[in-house]
Amino acid sequence: MPSGPLGAAIQRGRALLVATRESLPGHVGNGLRCTSCHLDAGRRQAFGSWVGVYARYPQYRPRSATVETIEYRINDCFRRSMNGTPLAADGAEMRDIVAYLWFLSRDLPIAPPPAGNRLQQWAALTADTAAGAAVYATACGKCHGLDGQGTAVAPPLWGPKSYNVGAGMTRVRTAAAFIRENMPFDQPGTLTDQQAFDVAAHVSARPRPDFPDKIHDWPNGDAPPDVAYPTLAAQRKSAAAPARAHAP
Ligand code: HEC
Ligand code: HEC
Repeated sequence: MPSGPLGAAIQRGRALLVATRESLPGHVGNGLRCTSCHLDAGRRQAFGSWVGVYARYPQYRPRSATVETIEYRINDCFRRSMNGTPLAADGAEMRDIVAYLWFLSRDLPIAPPPAGNRLQQWAALTADTAAGAAVYATACGKCHGLDGQGTAVAPPLWGPKSYNVGAGMTRVRTAAAFIRENMPFDQPGTLTDQQAFDVAAHVSARPRPDFPDKIHDWPNGDAPPDVAYPTLAAQRKSAAAPARAHAP
């Protein structure tokens, strides 16, 4: 840990990510903290790790169809995963969070994210939400609550205090990858791929806060198949489809 002002900024950034609601109540609209999904303060080498993240930005992302800075990406999680409001990109809180993410990425080469779709493995599976509800009852409910609303030991998975519809975790493949590698919290890695996929489908289908801006996601119409909400670009595409069907 560097000494002096830089070390102090890194430590303040880490504290904001671990105690997000307490530190930034005006920016958090649910019962989560950043490290609810980025485990061990982002240091766990599993899906959701922040190790190296600073070196992967700026990065083009199809959801926004723009080149995103790390500040933009952080604010995406504030608006969606935290169901809250973005930080000022040039404020002290953002600076300290970026300092912490830089610290987790020191000595790693600046490089684009690995090519290929890490979530492709899930395309081969078909989700069974009834089986997923059974996995939930035996492997998840004791911590997250049988009603999914969270308990003293674990945050909510659906309902008004959860991440919103626009969050990456609402995608079945993203949730499956997170759950497969990180959950159950006390026995990670014990679910099969099929169990992780089924329980992800069960959780993703539960009600949660809306994210009205989602309509503008993937403006080039290249949303992945596990995105469960309509976008303007997809509507334009399907409006054009019948015309093609009638063509000779
Ligand atoms: C509900 C779960 C959840 C919460 C809470 C959450 N995130 Fe995320 N975050 C994700 C997911 C899922 C991804 C995409 C991970 C991936 O594709 O590897 C992500 C990605 C990121 C990335 C980019 C990672 C990369 O490798 O490109 C950053 C930075 C980030 N989150 C920061 C934050 C911050 C800061 C907060 C708190 C304000 C936060 N997240 C809260 C789920 C969450
Ligand atoms: C032993 C308790 C425990 C069990 C069992 C458990 N979890 Fe978790 N889970 C946690 C804790 C604790 C966190 C947040 C970690 C933190 O804040 O540091 C978490 C975080 C999560 C998150 C991201 C944060 C959120 O609330 O959206 C998801 C998704 C999740 N768990 C899904 C599951 C699923 C699905 C199962 C069953 C397969 C499961 N968990 C089983 C304790 C548990």
